[in-house]
Amino acid sequence: MLLHVVKDYEAMSREAARLVADRLRSKPSLVLGLATGSTPLGVYRELIRMHIEEGLDFSKVTTFNLDEYVGLPPQHEQSYHHFMDEAFFRHVNVDRRYVHIPDGMASDIEGFCDWYEEEIRRHGGIDVQILGIGANGHIAFNEPGSSLGSRTRIKTLTERTIRDNARFFNSAEEVPRYAITMGIGTVMDARELVLLATGVEKAEAVRAAVEGPITAMVPASILQMHRRAYVIVDEAAASRLSCQYVRELTGLPTTEPRLRR
Ligand code: F6R
Repeated sequence: MLLHVVKDYEAMSREAARLVADRLRSKPSLVLGLATGSTPLGVYRELIRMHIEEGLDFSKVTTFNLDEYVGLPPQHEQSYHHFMDEAFFRHVNVDRRYVHIPDGMASDIEGFCDWYEEEIRRHGGIDVQILGIGANGHIAFNEPGSSLGSRTRIKTLTERTIRDNARFFNSAEEVPRYAITMGIGTVMDARELVLLATGVEKAEAVRAAVEGPITAMVPASILQMHRRAYVIVDEAAASRLSCQYVRELTGLPTTEPRLRR
């Protein structure tokens, strides 16, 4: 795990976008794992800027999104299909034929999940997977208690996640109760992971993921076992980390990872 503490949200977004752009330039047919939520929005904005101003080319990229709510059609404003379109896809030259997002309307959910896993394999696996982290330590919709070896499947959202996500809906009652999500094992198979966190409300989850024991109760803690997991967090999200040297290094104008754990 490579921990990188940067000043703020903008710096976090630039850092992650730079990493993705770098990998994309060396492999135009990159297989990119994408996340939704508020955290990666700045990364998508920066990648869009690079596409427009620097000609960053997404035409050969294949994408796989982490998750989707069960029961929301793609056109629904809160579906992750819609989110990805608005936040990223319609602003860059991604070929829609290469876009994969779990189908929350699938009639055979189990069959769909097996197909999704197979499709990732067929494309040679995910090169770079972007991740956010829930305040309870979840990654994708793998809530605390999820098996660390799990694969793509249907999961029940916890009350905490429903509450956290209610801000995007009219009320908590409207938040779907189930989601299709890549499993923790699926995520861990990606060659590189980029976990992002911003704000003090993520500080405890970041501390538990980075410094705590590896446990299914903090799904993100499994990243400690990944050889190329970059954890890019802003100062607020790093504020509960106990390693003194992390704070001392904060703010250095370098793009090198600050702490190897
Ligand atoms: C979204 C996802 C979730 C979010 C997490 C953090 O695809 O997989 O795990 O990354 O809930 O959400 P935000 O970024 O909104 O705080």
